[in-house]
Amino acid sequence: MEERKFDQITPRAILEYCYDHSKMVNAEALKRLEVRTREHGQIKMLSGPYLGKFLSMISSIIRPKYILEIGGFTGYGTACLAMGLQEEGKIISIEKNPELKGFADDIYEDLGISHKIDQRIGDARDIISTLDYSFDLVFIDAAKRQYIDYFEMVLPCIRKGGVILADNTLWKGSLVHPTLDKMGEGLDGFNKHIKSDTRVDNILMPLDDGVHFIIKK
Ligand SMILES: C[S@@+](CC[C@H](N)C(=O)[O-])C[C@H]1O[C@@H](n2cnc3c(N)ncnc32)[C@H](O)[C@@H]1O
Repeated sequence: MEERKFDQITPRAILEYCYDHSKMVNAEALKRLEVRTREHGQIKMLSGPYLGKFLSMISSIIRPKYILEIGGFTGYGTACLAMGLQEEGKIISIEKNPELKGFADDIYEDLGISHKIDQRIGDARDIISTLDYSFDLVFIDAAKRQYIDYFEMVLPCIRKGGVILADNTLWKGSLVHPTLDKMGEGLDGFNKHIKSDTRVDNILMPLDDGVHFIIKK
């Protein structure tokens, strides 16, 4: 079977142009979080300053009271999403790796958002059903083969007009290739599931690694 290596969807020069002409998320504390994540390992999983900016802008437009993040990792996306929260708002960020408990607590403190962050450690598929909120915004960014499960579990907990953003939904561009890895199969299945679901409106965007933008009707 032919082996193909995929990296960025967008040509590097265009991506650099986009970076150069965007006001990236630029807090000093977030730069420290990026460095700390790099030391921890798996920096590729971090949303980073470009996608992070998109998350903070969408959140600032919606001005959510309640956000749910599925797959919090080291907390970068959590902090960016929290930037748009109402003053009394809250983000529940679920992360299954116990080693990441409190990973960014001091960073949240420095950003003045600690009181808005509720990190939950465990499997999102166990935790979502225990949450009693009406979410305005949900960010799906955990196990790529479980996106349909997360979507089906969270949809009843999202208000009408609420937004779901699902990351990595173009999987480095590999989804247009006939041979997919298991995660690619999961993401392709998710994209098809959303397109055919009459309960939601959607647009799949080639932003970063692919962001599926979904609105509950
Ligand atoms: C790509 S990272 C998330 C990046 C993060 N959202 C950000 O903006 O930087 C994916 C994370 O999902 C976590 N994860 C995977 N499966 C999960 C599950 N079933 N429940 C909760 N977290 C899960 C992984 O441990 C990993 O930390």
